[in-house]
Amino acid sequence: MLSSSTAISSDALIHQLEWRYATKRFDPTRKIDPGTWDSLIESLVLTPSSYGLQPYKFIVVTDPALRAKLRTVSWGQAQIEEASQLVVFAIKKDMGKAHIAHYVDRIAQVRGVSRDSLEGFEGMMVGNLVDSLRATTIDQWSARQTYIALGNFMTSAALLGVDTCPIEGLDPAAYDQILGLEAEGYATVCVCAAGYRSADDNYAKLPKVRFPESELVQVR
Ligand SMILES: Cc1cc2nc3c(=O)[nH]c(=O)nc-3n(C[C@H](O)[C@H](O)[C@H](O)COP(=O)(O)O)c2cc1C
Repeated sequence: MLSSSTAISSDALIHQLEWRYATKRFDPTRKIDPGTWDSLIESLVLTPSSYGLQPYKFIVVTDPALRAKLRTVSWGQAQIEEASQLVVFAIKKDMGKAHIAHYVDRIAQVRGVSRDSLEGFEGMMVGNLVDSLRATTIDQWSARQTYIALGNFMTSAALLGVDTCPIEGLDPAAYDQILGLEAEGYATVCVCAAGYRSADDNYAKLPKVRFPESELVQVR
């Protein structure tokens, strides 16, 4: 077990969250170093999900030709090509009993417990998700889990001084076709570009537009 520790101060946290902004122009010459990138990949893997089911996959697109193609189906947004890294967040379509069984196998393996002892948990997940939700609803449920990974990734990046831009301005079906995701049973929900801001990205200088805390946070 890892021990709990306060890794950074409150001031440092808020500073990095204010430093982060949806980067429009990345410096194409600046690349994320492998050590930092490995940590950000780990932040995706460590993302919490409902029941721990992880109904998603993250596709890191490094091929420049693929990135150029994806840009044409992403409203032409420059980040798709200019950022050091591009991650596509995809849900497992119609997540069902096979995926749940795969997860339960993994719990038994990682925690060294018998498969039989997990039958009740497996039955509960199947009952609550597969038997009670329609396919469209389970895909929405999976998308919600996937956005947690997006948030985790962006915050982790900000803490490491890496810029990001979350992107929903794209044609998900075209992504699925270009990346061959449909045949694998996955569907694109959003992407995130990561790298380092270009010095001439004026968006970095704009004040953040947020409703007052009193409007967003209530204590009852
Ligand atoms: C799920 C999601 C999708 C977004 N899609 C885009 C996008 O396609 N292109 C873009 O430039 N910004 C996109 N944004 C960035 C938002 O416009 C931005 O986060 C918001 O205006 C707040 O600004 P800030 O992130 O700079 O603080 C997206 C943000 C989120 C969370």
